[in-house]
Amino acid sequence: MRIKVLTIFPDMVRAALGESIVGRALEKGLLTVECIDIRAYAQNKHKNTDDYPFGGGAGMVMLAQPIVDACEANAEAGQRRIYLSPRGRTLTQKVVEELAGEEELMLLCGHYEGVDERALEMCFPEELSIGDYVLTGGETAALVVIDAVSRLLPGVLGSEESAEDESFTTGLLEYPQYTRPREFRGREVPEVLLNGNHALIGRWRREQALRLTRERRPELLATAPLDKKDRLFLKTLEEEAPEEG
Ligand code: ADE
Repeated sequence: MRIKVLTIFPDMVRAALGESIVGRALEKGLLTVECIDIRAYAQNKHKNTDDYPFGGGAGMVMLAQPIVDACEANAEAGQRRIYLSPRGRTLTQKVVEELAGEEELMLLCGHYEGVDERALEMCFPEELSIGDYVLTGGETAALVVIDAVSRLLPGVLGSEESAEDESFTTGLLEYPQYTRPREFRGREVPEVLLNGNHALIGRWRREQALRLTRERRPELLATAPLDKKDRLFLKTLEEEAPEEG
């Protein structure tokens, strides 16, 4: 997958991409990320990328011209273009999976009070939000998208880091994990995990995932794929401690 990031802070995006699993994916060539400096396309004398809003109001608005020129200079066939913005569709694992199937992405990071709407009309038909809060700029949001998408690309995660069992893939929150030592400050690892019975371990983990999801995100149970055993287990929990509401 190839990702182009249009930003006024290319170094900020580059710096964050060097480490960890995303850094490894870049090294292996499973993913390329090109950071494009919007300022390099500014045509005005001072290389400004923003100006006061027509109609008044607080803050500055990013100019259409440098964004549209940067976009046109870096357009690719089949490129999906997305503006990171709190007014966009909310990013979920489902959206991440959809984006992981793309060959070419272009992400626009906004700043100040927004972007001249004409640049969006001309170049960025899609808007994506990483959640209902406001960031100072779209760079951290773009990094979230790149991180979440890259770990789904073939070859990025090792087999031991597999994305199969985890929250939002099973539709449930993840079960608790333990590692050595068996006892830490008087707290024992659950006995079932030590006996090597993988059928029992699998069932215990499933039940823990169901219990945690019911406690913390009960709305997820409505859409998670559940079998008969799962429903029976949830029923026993209900009898022990009925959910409020
Ligand atoms: N830019 C500012 N806030 C944002 C958010 N919540 N999601 C995506 N981009 C943003």
